[in-house]
Amino acid sequence: MNILEVNQKALVNDILKLKQQRKAIILAHNYQIGEVQDIADFVGDSLGLSQEAARTDAEMIVFCGVHFMAETAKILSPDKTVLMPDLNAGCAMANMITPRQLKEMKRKYPEAVVVAYINTTAQIKAESDYCCTSANGVKVVQSIPKEKEILFIPDKYLGDYISKKANRKMILWEGWCPTHRRILAEDILKKKAQYPKAEVLVHPECTPDVIAMADKVLSTSGICRYAKESNSEEFIIGTEIGILHRLKKENPQKKFYPASNLADCPNMKLNNLEKILWSLEDTAFLVEIPAEIAQNAKRSIDRMLKIV
Ligand code: 13P
Ligand code: SF4
Repeated sequence: MNILEVNQKALVNDILKLKQQRKAIILAHNYQIGEVQDIADFVGDSLGLSQEAARTDAEMIVFCGVHFMAETAKILSPDKTVLMPDLNAGCAMANMITPRQLKEMKRKYPEAVVVAYINTTAQIKAESDYCCTSANGVKVVQSIPKEKEILFIPDKYLGDYISKKANRKMILWEGWCPTHRRILAEDILKKKAQYPKAEVLVHPECTPDVIAMADKVLSTSGICRYAKESNSEEFIIGTEIGILHRLKKENPQKKFYPASNLADCPNMKLNNLEKILWSLEDTAFLVEIPAEIAQNAKRSIDRMLKIV
């Protein structure tokens, strides 16, 4: 073992000890760096992590993901202490719509039902009728009566995908994920030429031309599940590259190729083992949401959970 490995082992031991003392659990999104995924009690997608947060008996949750995910965990578990190791870990897409912009849209389309992707702030969820995730967006939209107009925020690409799948016209907000937009159709073409036997699995935050080339369009945990169950030996992965750690770990005999190495979400990479330890030591940084916003945001999340 070299000195770096010895240090890392000591760090991991300190985290595990403190985690037990504090009755804490560590939740990590599928895009987190490998060391963080490896130390987590649960690794999953936005929906799975929030559900896990609500289910756990732990008093404290160290949430390794981005801000909207930790907020969702707090909304579903208001009595638990929810911590983010780095408060700067926001989601660029979630920040593409402000409460004022949403209020303006609601004035413009007063009859529209507002469906908000889970990648939104608590304030935006509080102003929305339904929440949805990449795993259940089609089901949520299909549950809304046909005659109702739908305003979908903030991801225009996910909105376009859901609209086609559910055969429903929707008003789409002009937002997107900068990380997924870096995956180009030509990247998929190149990788397909290189690995002709590989199945192409992409996230619905990708652009429509990339989605059109995919064999399967899935949430991050959907990609992990499918890769395990499929008989294919090789996969081209069209989503944030952090997911490759979990895919390779769970399927050591299979091969995974990133569609593009540029699909790297900088905010997802802000968490590390040192910050997790400090977070447990100092009970920092606390995720707090004003009661009225949390209550209204919960309504839109509960509506989603009832449907799925
Ligand atoms: P999932 O809910 O599929 O994990 O996606 C979250 C996300 O931020 C994708 O960029
Ligand atoms: Fe947000 Fe995109 Fe990062 Fe996901 S990958 S957290 S949508 S910026």
